Amino acid sequence: MNKIAILTGATGGLGKAFLKELLKEDIDQIWAVGRNKNKLDELCSKYGDKIFPVQCDLCDESEVKKILALIEEKKPNVKFLINNAGMAKMSKMINFTEDEISKTIEINCKTPTIICQYVIPYMSKGSRILNISSASSFQPNPYIALYSATKVYLRSYSRSLNYELKEKGITCTAVCPGWIDTEMLKKEQNGKKIKFPGLVSAEKVAKKAIKDAKKEKDMSVCTLFVKNEHICSKFFPQKWIMNIWGKGVKKYVED
Ligand SMILES: NC(=O)c1ccc[n+]([C@@H]2O[C@H](COP(=O)([O-])OP(=O)(O)OC[C@H]3O[C@@H](n4cnc5c(N)ncnc54)[C@H](OP(=O)(O)O)[C@@H]3O)[C@@H](O)[C@H]2O)c1
Repeated sequence: MNKIAILTGATGGLGKAFLKELLKEDIDQIWAVGRNKNKLDELCSKYGDKIFPVQCDLCDESEVKKILALIEEKKPNVKFLINNAGMAKMSKMINFTEDEISKTIEINCKTPTIICQYVIPYMSKGSRILNISSASSFQPNPYIALYSATKVYLRSYSRSLNYELKEKGITCTAVCPGWIDTEMLKKEQNGKKIKFPGLVSAEKVAKKAIKDAKKEKDMSVCTLFVKNEHICSKFFPQKWIMNIWGKGVKKYVED
């Protein structure tokens, strides 16, 4: 049976870094899931036959079913599932459209959950699920309120899933990075250059996440800076942290 990895958001900043890590693993094929055909073609020409492109809009339930159909057809042995695709917007909550709210919840929460349901029956002892949450799941964060809330969902769900899958020898790791230098981060907003304390490379996050998944950790937190944030969120009142965060970020959002 073909040993495969499934990676969503393969065409993005962190996705490409995960792809490079997966290419080092004992895997026959990497199913690279993305929306954009040109970007998927680029991956295929760069990395060759090992990449199996799956064009799919992960905000569209009927398209997500294509992944299930493929799994049922090919019956692979899934060694890695990395639910990495995600959406974020820094804004006052009141300025979100209904469509933006639905899509953010869909891609950050529902789709990774559904994909886990499809894939787990095709996993075996030693298989790894990595769900990309965020350090913004450590406490509520005004002005990225929706994003932060969806990442709380993904972290909580992933850790419980890890517990439930223990008897099968399958692990699920909630990856909780701080700021990563990718296109997701707008460098300027509301006429102001945004500062990203503790910014790291996607390569560093991906390497640490795979290492932690292999160590069977239910959470992966990269860099001392983010580990400190995690500890602070446990020991300081969350209202204090929200206040510091809110005051720092308010200048970047429009009324
Ligand atoms: N950057 C950060 O500071 C940061 C921090 C913590 C956690 N994260 C998380 O890390 C993950 C990867 O983000 P990134 O920083 O690498 O961002 P990115 O460079 O913007 O990549 C996002 C990826 O998600 C895909 N995607 C978005 N909407 C999609 C849809 N409807 N259907 C299919 N694919 C879709 C994009 O595909 P297209 O190319 O087709 O748009 C792209 O491959 C996300 O879950 C994010 O929340 C990021």
